[in-house]
Amino acid sequence: MCGIIGYSGHRPAVPLIVEGLRRLEYRGYDSAGVGFVQAGELSVIRAPGKLGELEKKLARQNVFQATAGIGHTRWATHGVPNEANAHPHRDNSGKIALIHNGIIENYLELKKELAAKGYTFSSQTDTEVLANLISEGLKEKGDLTKALSWALSRADGAWAIAVIHQDMPGVIHAARRSSPLVMGIGTGENFVASDIPAFLPYTREVVFLDDGDLVRIDADSWEVFDAATLAPREKKVQHIAWDVQSAQKGGHKHFMIKEIFEQPKVIADCLVGRVDHEANLVDLPEIEALGVPERLHIVACGTSFHAGLWGMYLLEKWAKIPVQVEIASEFRYRGPILDKKGVVLAISQSGETADTLAGIRLAKEQGLPVIGLCNVVGSSVARESDYVMYTQAGPEISVASTKAMCSQLTSMLLLALYWGRRSGALDQDTAARCVRELAMLPQLLEKELPGMREQAQRLSRLHAEATSFLYLGRDACYPLALEGALKLKEISYIHAEGYAAGEMKHGPIALIDPKFPTFAMALDDELFPKVKSNLVEVQARGGTIIALVNPGLDAGVDHSWVLPKAFGPLNSFLALPALQLFAYEMADYLGKDVDQPRNLAKSVTVE
Ligand code: G6P
Repeated sequence: MCGIIGYSGHRPAVPLIVEGLRRLEYRGYDSAGVGFVQAGELSVIRAPGKLGELEKKLARQNVFQATAGIGHTRWATHGVPNEANAHPHRDNSGKIALIHNGIIENYLELKKELAAKGYTFSSQTDTEVLANLISEGLKEKGDLTKALSWALSRADGAWAIAVIHQDMPGVIHAARRSSPLVMGIGTGENFVASDIPAFLPYTREVVFLDDGDLVRIDADSWEVFDAATLAPREKKVQHIAWDVQSAQKGGHKHFMIKEIFEQPKVIADCLVGRVDHEANLVDLPEIEALGVPERLHIVACGTSFHAGLWGMYLLEKWAKIPVQVEIASEFRYRGPILDKKGVVLAISQSGETADTLAGIRLAKEQGLPVIGLCNVVGSSVARESDYVMYTQAGPEISVASTKAMCSQLTSMLLLALYWGRRSGALDQDTAARCVRELAMLPQLLEKELPGMREQAQRLSRLHAEATSFLYLGRDACYPLALEGALKLKEISYIHAEGYAAGEMKHGPIALIDPKFPTFAMALDDELFPKVKSNLVEVQARGGTIIALVNPGLDAGVDHSWVLPKAFGPLNSFLALPALQLFAYEMADYLGKDVDQPRNLAKSVTVE
């Protein structure tokens, strides 16, 4: 996930662009850059690190003359965050500069083609390939709009891009497909950006761009075309009443709810470059050299630990790999005896959790290879692991983790499919069916989320007086029960315990009374009858029950929350947001500080 901005107007462009990038900060930062034409020459200035690093560089130069330019903040999903990989990227002529959010999936093919024509490349990025493809198009078409249309017709993947050319100082071209891009319409100035906050201090008049749009702006005019045919496209200018803060949250009240609603995209993004939908195959080149582990030790903390536990059920079932999952702070001190043929999988959203890092070091001391599954590119977990798999979820701002867990579950599912097929433990039909259904999952979830939120709202209001909750589930729903309880206590400060449903009778059942509600997962699988009998035990003690169920199933509870039935492990991707939404709606109703709950930190870098 990156942030882009383009400006053409009457103000000094570079400071305005940097200020816009700062307002896109919530989209994450690991490097940034600007491109502009000044005194007839195209300049590109880039710096790794936070935006301050770019500002330091800019402070040493005169950048105040240009009144048009582009800027980019990178939040790497792969490729280290250094200066060479930072945007803008230039073509070989040095006249074109391009910023890009997204991924050009066929860039290697295009790169080969361009290299055969004599083009050279100074970075590993797909964006530099696209810059040169536009350059090639310009040779053939003689016009930048046409060149861009041609280049995009050759590209596969997702993009929001903005392009400038040395010989057209006040003009910016932009285009989108599957990555966000909006246009801001001012007086004597126009903008394009990934998101509205970038230009909100200057204009509230906005055009939301659609997939397949190609835009040309200068200070006084703007035009939108169909990227393929260059036929003009009609657009409506809309007035935005949001302030910067709510605009950064995409109009949502909190980052947490925004991130819960981002989960369909998170699933889709995690699959990019890893799933061949035509052949129904999963490919994980980043861990190919490792082979299929004989044993797996998963080490993690908090929500990431719950994702690991969820993965254990699936990896043992599908890939037939024996798995042990441990809380990193226990693992690091108990002197674990690790199987030398084993592999350690460290899961961490931030990649900076001190206990998880200590677990990695311990594993390496014992000579085991480590796979780091993390979200933040270039983080300590990524640097210290032998193999890295990125969850590609984009920055998570809310302290309570939601979309990161969704991306971790998606990654665990990909691992189970990949290793299961490589070892032959998983039959082709099951794998193919799962890959097919996985591709449709984002759409299904997108459709369901609004209704789920309403249900969460209703049920949270009904139970807002409770001081304790019990969460129950079996099999893969057990880690989800732990996560549901964790979410509720983290943000609403209501005591909650997650329990394996069958274990409940060994203690927690003593707590049940009419004021102690239970939240259960009673989904349509082979363990449904077992869960149902656990729920009967709760009811016999007068406890009220909310249960996540599938259509046609009667759990016989007070509040049945019906979720559509999906294929096998994919059901968890519907149950997880239901749990998150319930916790969110409860905390919001109780007036808690949802995004920054008391006593908690997003990244725990100390013991
Ligand atoms: C903190 C956060 C949790 C997170 C845990 C592990 O406690 O508040 O949301 O799950 O750390 O973090 P990691 O970055 O390693 O996944």
